Amino acid sequence: MKFEKNILGIGAGYVGGPSMAMIACKCPAYKVTVVDIDPLRIAAWNSDDLPIYEPGLDAIIAATRGKNLFFSTDIEASIRENDIIFVNVNTPVKMFGVGAGMAADLQYWEKTARQILQHSRSSKIVIEKSTFPVKTALAMERILSNNKTIRFDVLSNPEFLSEGNAVNNMENPDRVLIGFRETENGIKARDILVEIYANWVPRERIIGSNIWSSELSKLVSNAFLAQRISSINAISALCEKTDADINEVAMIVGMDSRVGNKFLSVSVGFGGSCFKKDILNLVYLCRHYNLNEVADYWEGVIKINQYQQERFISNILNAMFNTITGKKICLLGFAFKADTGDTRESPAIFIARRLLEEQAEIVVSDPKALKNARADLAGVVGKVSYTEDPYEAVKDCHAIAVLTEWAIYRDLDFHKIYETMTKPAFIFDGRNILDHKRLFKIGFNVYPIGKPPLVHF
Ligand code: NAD
Ligand code: UGA
Repeated sequence: MKFEKNILGIGAGYVGGPSMAMIACKCPAYKVTVVDIDPLRIAAWNSDDLPIYEPGLDAIIAATRGKNLFFSTDIEASIRENDIIFVNVNTPVKMFGVGAGMAADLQYWEKTARQILQHSRSSKIVIEKSTFPVKTALAMERILSNNKTIRFDVLSNPEFLSEGNAVNNMENPDRVLIGFRETENGIKARDILVEIYANWVPRERIIGSNIWSSELSKLVSNAFLAQRISSINAISALCEKTDADINEVAMIVGMDSRVGNKFLSVSVGFGGSCFKKDILNLVYLCRHYNLNEVADYWEGVIKINQYQQERFISNILNAMFNTITGKKICLLGFAFKADTGDTRESPAIFIARRLLEEQAEIVVSDPKALKNARADLAGVVGKVSYTEDPYEAVKDCHAIAVLTEWAIYRDLDFHKIYETMTKPAFIFDGRNILDHKRLFKIGFNVYPIGKPPLVHF
């Protein structure tokens, strides 16, 4: 069958897999190929056991794979055969040399650019979908311009999906952003990308900007979102000192339509592979331009996030008579948020490690993230066990710490749970998702975030 367009996605991770699958699903006339250097990941995409858990994704893969969506490890041939290339590779924080711990590690991206240069035999549109520091497109153009006989047009098209909600986010995006050069070729390339998205996204939501605004807007969008969480988490500390209730404060502040009520849920801290990394990147960029006050401002968002996690541990220690040595604590949830198995930068990792340092015994429970949790805690000294079943997990525990807002945790039979726990039984609700008054009535000592605790002694 002859396809209207041949599209390649390089990088088959949390962004590459779902976003390329969505294009295949919405555009049956296009052929979409997704490649990765990791053969195990590609094998998983080609199996019934997909490498990531994302609600609704199975159905999309089932409808497209083998028809117009293909997963492959043959990167070279795929570059040759496709003329529209999305770059979805990872951009982690650099852990060595200049910019260590702050700047983006661009080695994966650069290798990709060089591979595209080496294996292309015809002109290509290269689209940055990964989150890159400002001016990456320029570096990409410079590498690609080493081939004088082929044209490469570089566009920025950052992805705004959030995990656990990716299918809906991609189906109904708030906006699709395309950064392009205001040249004849730049505009032509933009129009080709607009044509792809226009298959399902209303035109008015497909917006254009210059490439540098596009790259920067992605970092700033994540920084603003994370800043809201750190703002509400910072106020939760004040609520705990003043007997104010953070849920009430968040509701009242959020009712101001200028502020809005989204992203004001108090938590044990934000996690995920991107917020911290992207803010560090922004901070690095500001320091590079000698904007130290601006850098300090954004660094504060990360500091509060760390503070919130440390506070959670201090609250556990204080409440449990300043010692948890030998006590058994159940972590309900390990994923960085509900509806994903992803644990990258999950506050649960820090909390688990700190509890183990205090020589507590921990039981980790999560409906989707146990495989990743095991890898995250591999080699950590201390007693750790894992079980998906929350009722099994809480048996004989002195305390429960709710770390992920999985819906199933709201509906647990806490009477039954209380019966099986060591007394006095404690609950630390790191997400404020439980019915605290009811738990208190059952007999628990309840420690929400940013609210007065409910204790029996
Ligand atoms: P990921 O680690 O899950 O996936 C990246 C994939 O790229 C990996 O499978 C890796 O093997 C592959 N890869 C690396 N170098 C390669 C190369 N040279 N050739 C082929 N494959 C290569 O990362 P992710 O979470 O999908 O994030 C990718 C990018 O998207 C990052 O820049 C991230 O900031 C951004 N982003 C992520 C999310 C999210 O929710 N995870 C959302 C928006 C944007
Ligand atoms: C986030 C952004 O929401 C996406 O728009 C962006 O594309 C993505 O980062 C990215 O660039 O990787 P994601 O990290 O998947 O998406 O998930 P979020 O829903 O943003 O949650 C991030 C963290 O903040 C989670 O740990 C979550 O539990 C926490 N959170 C979120 C809160 O603590 N309170 C809230 O009110 C909202």
